[in-house]
Amino acid sequence: MSLTNNLDTILVIDFGSQFTQLIARRIREAGVFSEIIKYKNLNKFLSNKNIKGIILSGGPLNVNTKKIKINKKIFNLNIPILGICFGHQIISKIFGGKVKQAKYREFGNAEIKKKMKSPLTKNFFTKNKNNVWMSHSDIVYKVPKNFKVIASSKNSKFAIIGNLIKKIYGVQFHPEVSHTVNGKIIIKNFLFNICKIKKNWLPKNQKINLINEIKKQVGNNKVVCGLSGGVDSSVVALILNKAIGKNLTCIFVNNGLLRKNEAKQVLTDFKKKLNINLVYVNAEKQFLKKLYNVKDPEKKRKIIGNLFIKIFEKYSKKIKKVKFLAQGTLYPDLIESKSVTGSTTSKIKSHHNVGGLPKKMKLELLEPLKFLFKDEVRKLGLELKLPKEILLRHPFPGPGLAIRIPGQVTNEKIKILKEADYYFIDLLKKNNLYHKIWQAYAALLPVKTVGVMGDNRTYEYICLLRAITSQDGMTADFFNFDKKFQQIISNKIINNIRGINRVVYDITSKPPSTIELE
Ligand code: XMP
Repeated sequence: MSLTNNLDTILVIDFGSQFTQLIARRIREAGVFSEIIKYKNLNKFLSNKNIKGIILSGGPLNVNTKKIKINKKIFNLNIPILGICFGHQIISKIFGGKVKQAKYREFGNAEIKKKMKSPLTKNFFTKNKNNVWMSHSDIVYKVPKNFKVIASSKNSKFAIIGNLIKKIYGVQFHPEVSHTVNGKIIIKNFLFNICKIKKNWLPKNQKINLINEIKKQVGNNKVVCGLSGGVDSSVVALILNKAIGKNLTCIFVNNGLLRKNEAKQVLTDFKKKLNINLVYVNAEKQFLKKLYNVKDPEKKRKIIGNLFIKIFEKYSKKIKKVKFLAQGTLYPDLIESKSVTGSTTSKIKSHHNVGGLPKKMKLELLEPLKFLFKDEVRKLGLELKLPKEILLRHPFPGPGLAIRIPGQVTNEKIKILKEADYYFIDLLKKNNLYHKIWQAYAALLPVKTVGVMGDNRTYEYICLLRAITSQDGMTADFFNFDKKFQQIISNKIINNIRGINRVVYDITSKPPSTIELE
């Protein structure tokens, strides 16, 4: 999908924040078109008449030590500006305020208190307070001239500031993150109260746009699509099917790192229900052999990514005239492997369908969903009439169980883990919890501990359970199970699976942890 057209636009200037794409997405969710550019490219856009508002993102840099060369003309275009976190600090510095390293870093939830009314914060506070999501080490300690203090927190005296006449605002927290209560209201107030932009970006147009884009890009060439059975690759397969019909072949690789019964399920769903041209490849042994003795998480991801590509290339030769390999890469996959805009986003992990790819590939990549988030993909899937059981399935990572077995992956560990995971997911479904949780899984920790069963000593692995709620996988909270559920699942796993004698539950949110263990 091309994000460049003639629509009124909110420009998001990326300084390398993990959340930049979330900002763009919140704007699009509100029905307004938005485009992200890296800050170094700002000059190219300064004269663009479609820009009705500008948001400066957060970022890992420090306004005092790194020289950010931002063209100050943007502050005199008479276009409203909102700075978020690092963006807030840049605005403060440029207008004569001061920024320094804070005594206490602020990560996570913080309470801010209202100091005055403003168009940005209309309907945002409840009883003059609000809980927001902070993620910063530096703070503004002197507010710039002509800026008013709209809200303060204990650690950030200038948590929201604004020059109401110039329509330039700064917020130290992240309104784009779902953990900020009423964060969407800040974004909407900026769009509709301050920039006065009209709605112009609606989901139903996205399907038509995508189909047209694919037709244009692919022409009469053939495409193979790596199908995993998850929502993303399924939506890619359906949209390609609509765009290029018989020129599409889906390849489903069983790498032996799938959930119990998953391979069978995918074959039934796609062959019977969706009537899609599908090739099944059993590569269980190949993957396990390549992973032998590999412990490093990044190496595992790269090995798996490379082998997938080799297999896709081998099978596409058999089909002939294949030019493209289609994948269900999403926005977050790109953000966390490498910034979409090529800016300074820190690399967290190589998602196999991005960072894990070999440098030289014979096939060209086709990634129609790379600007969409998970829930946008689900909406698109609904539009494409994807069956509910596929549409609402929990996400499952490309490298599969390999990244849920920290350290060395062996056949024995995979077998144990498949069973534990099966009991966990099955119990969630039976207790009507599956759809209340965004993603759940079992992992097998590479630690053995002592237990006692009957009168015997055991020395077996620890099974870790993880269940999170999230909107998009960018941030997450752990799910709260009641004690009874915890007792039942712990008993089920230990009583039924030889090899596990201890079950633990992961109680970390993202950040600071990630959803997967590796
Ligand atoms: P993390 O662990 O980065 O996970 O917080 C965020 C979401 O991405 C999924 N994930 C992957 N998906 N290939 C994928 O297709 C990958 O390599 C990969 N790694 C993580 C993860 O399951 C979660 O939903």
